Amino acid sequence: MSLLKAWVHTLRHEAQDIISVALRPMPGENLPAFEAGAHIDLHLPGGLIRSYSLANDCKEKDRYLLGILKDKASRGGSRCVHEQLRVGMTLTISAPRNNFPLHEEADHSVLIAGGIGVTPILAMAQRLHALGRSFEVVYLARSQAAAAFCDALTALACPVHWHFDDQAGGPPKLQDLLAQRAPKGNTHYYACGPGMMLDAFEKFCAELGYTHAHTERFSAVEVKAADDARSHYSVDLRKSGVTFEVNSGTTLHKQLIALKVNVPFSCEEGFCGACETRVLEGTPDHRDMVLSAAEQASNQVMMVCVSGCKSERLVLDL
Ligand code: FES
Repeated sequence: MSLLKAWVHTLRHEAQDIISVALRPMPGENLPAFEAGAHIDLHLPGGLIRSYSLANDCKEKDRYLLGILKDKASRGGSRCVHEQLRVGMTLTISAPRNNFPLHEEADHSVLIAGGIGVTPILAMAQRLHALGRSFEVVYLARSQAAAAFCDALTALACPVHWHFDDQAGGPPKLQDLLAQRAPKGNTHYYACGPGMMLDAFEKFCAELGYTHAHTERFSAVEVKAADDARSHYSVDLRKSGVTFEVNSGTTLHKQLIALKVNVPFSCEEGFCGACETRVLEGTPDHRDMVLSAAEQASNQVMMVCVSGCKSERLVLDL
């Protein structure tokens, strides 16, 4: 995982409990290019690592723009960003990763943002706008005051369906909103927002026969261990020269932390991709939401924060 430094150029109030953080490269350096839908990890004061989507136009070469909600259920990350980040601070960040890629060749794209889920959606809208592709946005939020980046979306002059619960008298009917947007040729549907909204999105897309449905999650869906997952296996860390056992009282993740192995854990729930590790031998039991089915089947990498093992021995490139 490549890490770099960037400095906090701007902190801005965007909406109720939401600030934007603009990061700039260190003097004489560049920021790696990114694709719409990508995210980076912020290494925060106190040792926390958290992933945030990039909201700006991917043609910008010298800025990463994040939108961060002060989450009431924060495990410390968003609170730290809101309370401790200051303009001028230098942060360690990861290079961008993209688990939510845009299919730029689609005939039409429907981009659905739920609350702070607008961040990757905005980057996607800017990209599709720049390419001159057909797309529309559905923006769902509790209220207009709680909706960030409305001006940036409005500036794109693209079709936006706004739904603010307080004005509409309740939450949106996602099924109807999707049904009203039947595929025009090869249409792709994207959604980012709260887990319950994404669960509903996936269910309704399946019911409507919308095959090109994509989600980006900020929280995990629990993936159960496979029937043939082992409760006891050994792990060799090839680079560190360390061998240990995982048994029913512990997990690979806990053991790696206890041994202070240098893995850049971020979400620790299998959805950000920060802990992706090369598998040199053995068969993982994949329980992440990052890898595609084909990637999981190839067993070349695994997310060591949540995954287990189906073989007696696992050899990792750590
Ligand atoms: S730390 Fe996020 S997938 Fe493992």
